[in-house]
Amino acid sequence: MKKIAFFNVKGGVGKTTSAVNIAWLAAQGGMPTLLWDLDPQSCASWYLGIDDDAVDKKSINIFKGKTPVGRLRLHTAHSRLSVIPADLSLRKLELLLAQEAKSDQLLARLTDHLSERQQLIVYDCAPAYSQLSESLFASCDLLAVPLLPSPLSVRSYQQLTAFLQKKKRWKKLQTLPFFTMVDRRRKIHNDVIEHAKSIIGDDDPVIIPYASEYEKMGIHRAPIHAFAPSSKSAKAYEALWQRLQHQLVKTTVRS
Ligand SMILES: Nc1ncnc2c1ncn2[C@@H]1O[C@H](COP(=O)(O)OP(=O)(O)O)[C@@H](O)[C@H]1O
Ligand SMILES: [Mg+2]
Repeated sequence: MKKIAFFNVKGGVGKTTSAVNIAWLAAQGGMPTLLWDLDPQSCASWYLGIDDDAVDKKSINIFKGKTPVGRLRLHTAHSRLSVIPADLSLRKLELLLAQEAKSDQLLARLTDHLSERQQLIVYDCAPAYSQLSESLFASCDLLAVPLLPSPLSVRSYQQLTAFLQKKKRWKKLQTLPFFTMVDRRRKIHNDVIEHAKSIIGDDDPVIIPYASEYEKMGIHRAPIHAFAPSSKSAKAYEALWQRLQHQLVKTTVRS
């Protein structure tokens, strides 16, 4: 079982859009996939058709050990794709993790037994450095980092990679930065991407274009392929999934 987290300390950069589309592509490609929504705003759950009133359990109880992970897992309308929805109870997660002795190992412990059923876990994260993100750094195979094509965004990626050098366990974590909301007609976007190539160590970074089709995911409440399967927007996420798969093969097994 592999684990990918879509992470960026900034909000509104395409984490949720990417997590939902990648989870869908993985599932349709044959991998039983679980999307674990860790953002109390619960947008990923909503995109996958989960209504707020369908969630009668508090997902923080998973972290308290009161509810087994599997009990909160819901099937979606898409084959092989299930979701652990988020809810507002997660706003108290940081308090809880602060009291936990080995909080950075908690996610690994909670997901261990899922490997019998799932081949991939995709985490959609809230935008912050937190105890929870440290637990993700310790247990994920790959951190997928959506970046806006701006100098500050590239700088925040550099800060992230420097931060990941701080702990031995985190050094095993691979990162895949990619650009989102790119408008190729804008010189600044092209310039930033060109300049970033040497910084992120990738000559051919994946680029997700700016397109209002992605916003329509909120109208259809479905991944892009469900309503625009042959669009450029859909193809862009296929390219990202290819890269992620390629990178996952290179990850070593993490305990
Ligand atoms: N490539 C894109 N082009 C245009 N709009 C996008 C794109 N990706 C995401 N969006 C829109 O931008 C907003 C923020 O995206 P979202 O995935 O929710 O970001 P995050 O999870 O990082 O906060 C949403 O309204 C979404 O529909
Ligand atoms: Mg989000």
